[in-house]
Amino acid sequence: MVQLTLPRNSQIKAGKRHPAPQGAVNVRTFKVYRYDPDAGNNPRWDIYELDLDTCGPMVLDALIAIKNDIDSTLTFRRSCREGVCGSCAMNISGRNTLACTKGMDELPEGVITVAPLPSQPVVKDLVPDLNNFTAQYAAIQPYLQTVTPQPDTEWRQSPEERAKLDGLYECILCACCSTSCPSYWWNSDRFYGPAALLQAYRWIADSRDENQGERLDALEDPFKLYRCHTIMNCAQVCPKGLNPAKAIAEIKKAMVERKV
Ligand code: SF4
Ligand code: SF4
Ligand code: FES
Repeated sequence: MVQLTLPRNSQIKAGKRHPAPQGAVNVRTFKVYRYDPDAGNNPRWDIYELDLDTCGPMVLDALIAIKNDIDSTLTFRRSCREGVCGSCAMNISGRNTLACTKGMDELPEGVITVAPLPSQPVVKDLVPDLNNFTAQYAAIQPYLQTVTPQPDTEWRQSPEERAKLDGLYECILCACCSTSCPSYWWNSDRFYGPAALLQAYRWIADSRDENQGERLDALEDPFKLYRCHTIMNCAQVCPKGLNPAKAIAEIKKAMVERKV
C-alpha cells in the first residue's frame, strides 16, 4: 500500500496546553489548529480546556471565549453569528460547517477538534486563503445579464419562474462544500467546485437572464465543470441544506439539451 507522508514543514506538532481554571466543573476540551506562517514554525495543535459555564452553547461562542479569556492570539473569521455571512466556516470534529450554528451538544462527546477548511492555504490559524475561491465566483459573472433594454418597473417573473431559484439563491458562499470536495482538493486551480457552479446555475436558471448560451459556453471545459464525479460530499456538508451536485447535474443537462 502507498504510504503518504506530509512534507516535514507541514507536519502538525503537539502545541501548548491551557488547563481549565480551578474549580471549573463543566469542562470541555478543544484541540485547535494553530499556524502562523510568519513565525516559520510547523503548525501545531493547541489544547484548551474551557469552562462551558462561562460561555454560550455554540462552537463560535467557545472560540470567542478562548480568544477573550485564555489566548488572544487565536485567529478566526466571524461576523453575523447567525449563519448568514458564511465567514465562520471551518472544519469542526472532522466536518466542514459554520461555527456559529453548530451547537457543542450536537457534536460527539469528548474532544472537539477545530481546524481551518481543508485544502486551501492557511493565512493564520483557522483562517483559510479564499482568494482562488472568490476568483472562481467572480469568473461565473454572478449578476443579471440582458440584451433587451431594462424595463421602467421591476423585472417580472411568474411564481413558477421564481421557484426555479429556490435551493440556489440561499447560498452564502461559505466554501464548506467546495473544500469538502475531493475533486476540488486535487484540481482547485481549474475545477470551479460546487459553490461557484451552484452560483453559475443560479443565473442560468434565472428567467430574466438573457446570456444562458454564453454562460454555458464558458463552462464547456473538461476541468471547470466536468471534474464533478457526483461524490456528493458537497450536499452532505452544506449548512444551508443546498444540493450543489444537483445544480451541477442541471448544468450538464442544459449542455446536452442545447446540442440536440
Ligand atoms: S458531487 Fe461533485 S462537486 Fe459535489 S463533492 Fe462530489 S465531485 Fe465535488
Ligand atoms: S452551497 Fe452551501 S456549502 Fe456551498 S458555499 Fe453555498 S451555502 Fe456554503
Ligand atoms: S458568523 Fe456569519 S455565518 Fe457564522
